[in-house]
Amino acid sequence: MHGAVRDPQKLQELLDAVLLVQGDLDLDTVLLRVVEVARGMAGARFGALGVIDDQGTGLSRFVTSGVDRETIDAIGPLPRGSGLLGTLILDPKPLRLDDLASHPDSVGFPPHHPTMVSFLGVPLRVRDQVYGNLYLTEKEGAPAFSEADEDLVVALAGAVSVTIENARLHDRLREAGRAADRERIARDLHDTVIQQLFAIGLSLQAVIPLADDVIRGHLQSAIDDLDETIRQVRTTIFALEPAPVDRKGLRARVLEICVAATRSLGLEPEVRFSGGLDTAVDEATAGEVLATLREALSNVARHAAANNVTVELTVADGLQLRVVDDGVGLPPRDARAGLPPRDDGVGNGIRNMVERAQALGGSMELRAGPGGGAVLSWRVPLERGGEGTVGWPN
Ligand SMILES: Nc1ncnc2c1ncn2[C@@H]1O[C@H](COP(=O)(O)OP(=O)(O)OP(=O)(O)O)[C@@H](O)[C@H]1O
Ligand SMILES: [Mg+2]
Repeated sequence: MHGAVRDPQKLQELLDAVLLVQGDLDLDTVLLRVVEVARGMAGARFGALGVIDDQGTGLSRFVTSGVDRETIDAIGPLPRGSGLLGTLILDPKPLRLDDLASHPDSVGFPPHHPTMVSFLGVPLRVRDQVYGNLYLTEKEGAPAFSEADEDLVVALAGAVSVTIENARLHDRLREAGRAADRERIARDLHDTVIQQLFAIGLSLQAVIPLADDVIRGHLQSAIDDLDETIRQVRTTIFALEPAPVDRKGLRARVLEICVAATRSLGLEPEVRFSGGLDTAVDEATAGEVLATLREALSNVARHAAANNVTVELTVADGLQLRVVDDGVGLPPRDARAGLPPRDDGVGNGIRNMVERAQALGGSMELRAGPGGGAVLSWRVPLERGGEGTVGWPN
């Protein structure tokens, strides 16, 4: 009967094989074991497992068994899923061929590739999705793979599905765990080690005036050593921290923009910060808030004739920019919240600022100030708050 494994000895082999595979949780190891077991069960000289990429059209991984390292190197790039391998990706069902070169989709082999004639391909499903394909070639001791071989490999493919899913989950968890570990170590180094070194340095500094010249020299060099140690620990923290996007923090860039606007404004804006601006705000959001600040200050300079301007940047459960001026106030039709784009074709500034906020899932309001002038309030959500990130002394 096609589609089931009836031979008790073969069934036992299959069970053993699954148990063998299940011992390993690392995904690469599991995939290799699956290929090896499939090869053994079907009596194939060569075996491979191709994992289908996210687009579902090619292969993202290709694990082989039976081909030695030198041959793999000589062949060059691994197959990406064209030809017969592509056929199995697009039409995932078992494919058994006496001579694979005779299949219309066959595109032949690259130079140095071992000769392969008989072929058995079986899709691997994980959670109802085609995860990849098992390819077996060169049946040993016979010209081609049999129906029984096919049944066995199909049964194996079904049996290892959960194992592959588990291994995938474990891989992801391990990655997440590593990232979390790095963050924790970086935080610990910063919060405990650096702070303690600082404290020691300060207490040494405090006793310098009490010491005689000789001891003072020793103390000073101990303090210098501490400074150097702190620098080294900081370097280590930088190396541990993932993706340090821009070493020049958001605060520094906000101040730069305010200083640059001073001339056109005829005054220096008062700037207030609160919350973990430099660590909690990702680079994309930072770019948008800075562009908004530039436009807001240019509007104040051009339209407000203000005597005072305040710029506030706050990280709480999101990022908020407020630009408050005490100028002439908004023209009557604009003096309401959530301005729509002006229809006289003059200004794009407000529309752009609104769109920048909306693109990040936030919003903007431009209102009349309580005692005159205008209040611009631009807010966007943040991925995560300031917690769990590393801040920097100095
Ligand atoms: N702080 C402000 N005080 C007074 N009026 C303002 C202020 N900000 C904006 N406005 C009014 O809102 C209008 C629309 O602003 P918007 O930035 O969209 O266009 P614009 O500045 O006129 O032109 P653009 O920004 O495209 O160069 C301005 O023309 C001005 O009348
Ligand atoms: Mg403008």
